[in-house]
Amino acid sequence: LTDITARTSIVTIPLSELETPVPVVDLDRLGRNLDRAAEYATRHGLALRPHIKTHKSPRIAREQLTRGAVGLTCATPFEAEVMSGVCHDLLVAFPPVGQARAKRIATLPDNVDVTVALDSLASVKVIAEAARAADRRIGVYVELDLGMHRVGVPVVDDAIALARAVCALPPLEFSGIAFYPGHVREPVGAAQTGKLESLAKSVSDVIAAFDRAGVRPRVVSGGSTPTLWNTHEITGVTEFRPGTYVYNDRTTAEIGACGWDDCAFTVLATVVSTAVPHQAVIDAGSKALGREPMRGADAKDGFGALLDRPEVTVASMSEEHGILDLSKTAWRPQVGERVRVVPNHVCVVVHLNDVIAGARGDAVETTWPVAARGRGYTIDV
Ligand SMILES: Cc1ncc(COP(=O)(O)O)c(C=O)c1O
Repeated sequence: LTDITARTSIVTIPLSELETPVPVVDLDRLGRNLDRAAEYATRHGLALRPHIKTHKSPRIAREQLTRGAVGLTCATPFEAEVMSGVCHDLLVAFPPVGQARAKRIATLPDNVDVTVALDSLASVKVIAEAARAADRRIGVYVELDLGMHRVGVPVVDDAIALARAVCALPPLEFSGIAFYPGHVREPVGAAQTGKLESLAKSVSDVIAAFDRAGVRPRVVSGGSTPTLWNTHEITGVTEFRPGTYVYNDRTTAEIGACGWDDCAFTVLATVVSTAVPHQAVIDAGSKALGREPMRGADAKDGFGALLDRPEVTVASMSEEHGILDLSKTAWRPQVGERVRVVPNHVCVVVHLNDVIAGARGDAVETTWPVAARGRGYTIDV
């Protein structure tokens, strides 16, 4: 595998020759996004364990690892299976509930150091049984709810009890604690300060309580893209798991966790109709762009915005049609004209595709598969 962010390819295809809709990643921007997060991690002495749910591609994972990532974070067993081909240190940050899921995690290749994040005694028992059956050590992060209210033990004494249960069930090993600050979605800067301070306080209280109980967490794992550049302010965090930062998206730019020029991922689409006045229709609808709204109190409209004309949004969609809102522009596209759409939420859009095209300027240099897309199981009836 070549380093896809390096200028290596001599034979290229112009973007204009690609069939649309097609996902296109700007390789220079991707490289910059990867470098910036790696440098941030080094500067602050934080272990970077990127969440690969955004790209689902061993090629990109390799780029993260060569830039110093300590390991990878996955959500699904299939992601972990695919990533085990390039990485020997995997965190599955999703409750390992259900025998099938636990077995797949426990039977990852032997040379992989596997850790799971969990929040219940039931999941401890399931993964302990799978670990025993596979005769392998599995690390456990006890997940705490520090404000997102999705998963995670809300009461620290209960989290400590869970850590003790893990310690009592070898070959499980209590490796640390985890939380996901997904509730921090305010614009980067002053608007996040209150929540970050409160997180820092919660994290230090939790660490102190674990310490007093004699179950010191070796790793404190947190992190997201909206909080990426302020992770160091959440004192006590040793490891962070941003995912979206590799490609970025309209939401990330909107809250200032990246600039518009850092959006590396677009869907290249073609204007297919201008017959209805005051609008243009592109060949990218909900099956190409996803249907994720912008979030937050004063959220902007639309399901994506044009890279070169961010004032033009995809106002509504059918499955294959995207309707561009031309009310804020004097631009009147012709049928056949091409546009690049920055989606609201890149992770779900990546997952709609089998293959990504990597381009520098208008020249496509390479492609890579979204290899961990889907669930990776068959149902044999
Ligand atoms: C547990 C966990 N960790 C890390 C991440 C990465 O967050 P982001 O996409 O904001 O970078 C996610 C995202 O969903 C997550 O669920």
